[in-house]
Amino acid sequence: MVSQGASHLAPPWGAPGGLPATLEWVGGEEGGLRILDQTLLPGRVEMRVCQTAEEVWEAIRALRVRGAPAIGVAAAFGLCLGTRPFRDAEPDAFRAKVREVADYLCSARPTAVNLSWAIERIYAVTEQGFSDDTRKMWGAMLAEAQAIAREDAVVCRRIGEVGADLVPDGGAVLTHCNAGALATVTYGTALSMLYVAHEQGKRFQVFAGETRPLLQGARLTAFELAAAGIDVTVICDSTAASLMRAGRVQMVVVGADRIAANGDVANKIGTYSLAVVAKHHGIPFYVAAPLSTFDLTIADGDRIPIEQRPEEEIRNVCGRQVVAARAGCHNPAFDVTPAALINAIITERGRLKPVTAENIRDFF
Ligand code: MRU
Repeated sequence: MVSQGASHLAPPWGAPGGLPATLEWVGGEEGGLRILDQTLLPGRVEMRVCQTAEEVWEAIRALRVRGAPAIGVAAAFGLCLGTRPFRDAEPDAFRAKVREVADYLCSARPTAVNLSWAIERIYAVTEQGFSDDTRKMWGAMLAEAQAIAREDAVVCRRIGEVGADLVPDGGAVLTHCNAGALATVTYGTALSMLYVAHEQGKRFQVFAGETRPLLQGARLTAFELAAAGIDVTVICDSTAASLMRAGRVQMVVVGADRIAANGDVANKIGTYSLAVVAKHHGIPFYVAAPLSTFDLTIADGDRIPIEQRPEEEIRNVCGRQVVAARAGCHNPAFDVTPAALINAIITERGRLKPVTAENIRDFF
């Protein structure tokens, strides 16, 4: 059954802990997309402004902006940037350009469905009766991208409200990768539950798996939770099982990049093994995700495209080669957790439990 969540709140602008916005459009119609460059965190807090679709594509591919909802929002603005120089073209030529740039941006990363979801929302604007006014059409595309960004903030806050009472007062929560403010416009998905629980006065500890090879847990999750005053401890990914066995974890919560129609969840590599170990120890395993992360066109997790990243990400650690040149490295960015291992999916519309194809069908 689906249980409905708490009340609607106004959009909470600004990241918890006073961090700069993960991404935002600056400067009106001639402006650009300003992102916090996450490849430099936590050492350097630097912003960069993207002015072209190519710069947005590169920022997504290089994980300067990352996390499923955030790359969707970035791509939506990227589509506006890539078509801006063609605002005076004939309507059909303009629409063809929008399609071309849309397909290009979708090629940046294959697993998170939020990317193509946001792109298709922008594309749909071009089919809404601006037949002979491409300038107006482009303005409406930018307004739609702004709407997607605003909605993401509201949706993430609501996910936190829906899930906060699951956070164990006096206990510990394990999370993986970064499903926080840095992965969304603000608040995050999995971490939103923690932010709201913290606001409610709950006391709890968070274990953040470091998340090899790119260390999103160590570099990003610990950074944003610590900035918000939440008690966070980084562990090597391999430490999780023994912590669970020792009774030091009461709940696991992660985000998602794509959820298939049967509830199988693609998320950062290592999520699946956490779910198996949590099941073994009887620890609840939750996924927090917006409805835009569900892909009902995909029957099960085996059909979700899994991004393969360059082997250098494993071979080199902090600029130093740690794997012999003759050895290979295998670097899938995501894995699939079967629905049967997931206690509930926390969405802005309520908690989806049990996680079954039938329940998901009813939910939508
Ligand atoms: O490769 P990344 O850093 O983009 O991977 C991110 C994740 O796996 C997140 O858990 C997921 O996108 C959900 S973000 C709210």
